[in-house]
Amino acid sequence: MIELLQLPKAELHLHIEGTLEPELAFELADRNRVDLPFASVDDLRSRYSFENLQSFLDLYYATMAALRTEDDFADLARAYVARAAAQGVRHAEVFFDPQAHARRGVPIEAVIDGLSAGLAAAGREHGVTGGLIMCFLRDLPVEDAEATLTSALPRAGALLGVGLDSAEVGNPPGRFAGVFRRAREAGLRTVAHAGEEAPAAYIWEALDVLGVERVDHGIRAVDDPRLLERLAADRVPLTVCPLSNLRLRAVGSLAEHPLARLLEAGVVATVNSDDPAYFGGYAGDNFAAAAEALGLGLETAELLARNSVEASFVPAERAAELLAEIDAWAARHRLS
Ligand code: HPA
Ligand code: ZN
Repeated sequence: MIELLQLPKAELHLHIEGTLEPELAFELADRNRVDLPFASVDDLRSRYSFENLQSFLDLYYATMAALRTEDDFADLARAYVARAAAQGVRHAEVFFDPQAHARRGVPIEAVIDGLSAGLAAAGREHGVTGGLIMCFLRDLPVEDAEATLTSALPRAGALLGVGLDSAEVGNPPGRFAGVFRRAREAGLRTVAHAGEEAPAAYIWEALDVLGVERVDHGIRAVDDPRLLERLAADRVPLTVCPLSNLRLRAVGSLAEHPLARLLEAGVVATVNSDDPAYFGGYAGDNFAAAAEALGLGLETAELLARNSVEASFVPAERAAELLAEIDAWAARHRLS
């Protein structure tokens, strides 16, 4: 087996709240005098067994009650960057869910400022660049998303873009077209979760109605040959999350995971961790697990890393640096 943990890569599908490990959740809850609805770290970890996306989301929203202050968000971001850097991540585009914090009374400024400070400080320390993508919760009314965008606009300079997440089935992307248009007009990039549990039609809608530049998950594209052709021809990247799909039962086993079929169809697929505290692995773990289950070799691992740079929103100069790091890694591994 090749050592994929240290393969230099960009992480493009990562919910910062999904990096909240039970130990940090309890530390922050103690600090904030918040009562988490779990008896202990072990009790919380024992609940990490999911039937589907919704059963995960219930625990994800319950655990994030520990996050209250700007410092909490900075600590969370610092902890993530340290873990990611240890697994070869050199650039991270990080999702956050401000609506899930606003309903607990946490102002969006505390969330954005804390995450920005944590990413910047840990990024300098570990050589990781990055940015923030603000996600709208698709199971809340569009008016809530509109108000969230309005409240974030004074800090638009701190954001790379906007995304769409939470419970997918029954919440197709199209009704968020107006919010996404406003975000684009404010200079923000656009992505959306689609085709995780819901069918390929949601991916078409994310492309044609929302106009997104990148699709998160998107694995159900394998059911639609015309969609595969479209994604490949337009080089619309997919941010695939193998261990998430396994743990949320979007696939029966990693050996059946569509990643290899997406690559064969010429789609710019990438490998990411989604909610690594909950799904059993950070970015490098996802590369290693997918490579082993699907029999992917050195060249495919290298392709996935290159795809992550192409699919990212980094400036050309930083992209060239990252590609050079991948070249150097691949050259070392070809020799060994
Ligand atoms: N899908 C949708 N919403 C989410 C996810 C996911 O995998 N993780 C955190 N919020
Ligand atoms: Zn996700």
